[in-house]
Order: sequence, then structure tokens, then C-alpha cells
Amino acid sequence: MKLILLGAPGAGKGTQAEILSAKLGIPTISTGNILRAAIKEGTPTGLEAKRYMDAGKLVPDAVIIGIVAQRLAQPDCEKGFILDGVPRTIGQAEALDQAGVTFDHVLSIEISDGEIEERMSGRRVCQSCGAPYHVKAKPPKAEGVCDSCGGPLVQREDDRAETVRERLAVYHEETEPLKGFYEGKGILAPVANQDTIEGTNQVIMEALGL
Ligand code: AP5
Repeated sequence: MKLILLGAPGAGKGTQAEILSAKLGIPTISTGNILRAAIKEGTPTGLEAKRYMDAGKLVPDAVIIGIVAQRLAQPDCEKGFILDGVPRTIGQAEALDQAGVTFDHVLSIEISDGEIEERMSGRRVCQSCGAPYHVKAKPPKAEGVCDSCGGPLVQREDDRAETVRERLAVYHEETEPLKGFYEGKGILAPVANQDTIEGTNQVIMEALGL
């Protein structure tokens, strides 16, 4: 199974990718998590990416295409994979096409900008492994500690209200056109956001016919 999760910042892509990864036994590839790890390590890619991410802008296509090509070449992707947060521009989608990467389904989580702005203030992420939590919708078992790896939970720098508004504007301008791109290939499945994480996952499983 090869999947893409599309959706606005905070739509729930990372959360659903984690659940699907466990259910389907295939890895998740999150360019956001890869870039945040690079920033933490202080690599040249991380240093370049940081100024775009902090401003809520997209990292240049050339950087992203290189990262994804390298990750997809790993043996654990042979059985399938879930792309979370990539592609995000028509240029990235065309690069995947040109590399011969095909997909079974493109799931687009649909949620309003207003709901996103409200939701983001409650998001927490694990500083070590990137797992997403929410103070109300998905609290960790022990406050401030990741259930999976025991790392500390923090608020993401780009979750400030002003940056979230910029990320939403960038999403509508640069990423939303991908829906038409994949609709044209007959593989787009819109998924209406539900009030709970489990509810959204149920709609996704139905869309996948599972
Ligand atoms: P990235 O990390 O990919 O961020 P994003 O796409 O903006 O998405 P998020 O991670 O913010 O949200 P999500 O949809 O995964 O939601 P989550 O599951 O956490 O990218 C960050 C930056 O990196 C970009 O701005 C860009 O600069 C750069 N970048 C990355 N990829 C790039 C690319 N391909 N090209 C160029 N630049 C790139 O959920 C959000 C919260 O809601 C959580 O707290 C969760 O618990 C909660 N929640 C989820 N579902 C529900 C529900 N149904 N009900 C209630 N709460 C819910």
C-alpha cells in the first residue's frame, strides 16, 4: 500500500499516519519530522530549512525531493509507505511521477481554517521522536512525557497563531492544487475531519476499503 496524506497544517496527517503505520505495517515518511531532526542535529540541510519553517514558508523543492528520494530507497519502503506532508507542491508531485513512484490512494483530510487555528494551540509533540499529542484530544499517559519513547513533550515553534495563519495561506496557495492533480489520476479520496482521532481514522479505513 502506497499512500499520501494531504491536508492543511494541523489537519491530523501525522496522527493518522502513525495509526495507519501500526495497522498496515508500513513506514511513515514525514518530511516535517525529517527536517526537525536535521535542525536538531545542526546539519546544513537543517540550518537551511529552519529559516523557512520558522516563517511558515515551504522549504525549497530541491531540498525536499532529495530527502524523499533518499528515504524511499531504504529497504523498509519496499512493501509500501505513507507520505505525510509530502508532496506539497505540484513540483514535488511531478518529481515523484518522474521517479516512477506511484500511489494507491491520496487521502485529503478536510477541515476548516477556523478549526485548525483553535486546535493548534493545544498540540504538543515529542522532542525526541516527533509523535503528536493534544492536551484534550490525545493527552499522554503521563503529563509532558511521550508514551512511545519517554521524550519530553513541547510546543512546536511554528504553532504560534501568527505562523499558523501564514502556513494556512501557503497551504491554500501551493498545496491545495494537488487535490486536482491527484483527482485527475483518479486516486483522490477526500476525508471529512471528525471530532475525534478515532472517528477520522474510521472514515479513512472506509475510504481505503479496509
Ligand atoms: P509539517 O511538520 O509537515 O507540518 P504541517 O503539514 O504543517 O502539518 P502538521 O505537522 O502541523 O500537522 P498534521 O496535519 O500532521 O497534524 P497532527 O497530526 O500533528 O511541516 C512543517 C514545516 O516543514 C512546513 O511548514 C515547511 O516549512 C516544512 N516542510 C515539511 N514538508 C515539506 C515539504 N514537503 N515541502 C516544503 N516544505 C516542507 O494533528 C494536529 C493536532 O490535532 C494534534 O495535537 C492532534 O493530536 C490533534 N488532532 C488530530 N486529529 C484530531 C481530531 N480528529 N480531533 C481532534 N484533535 C485532533
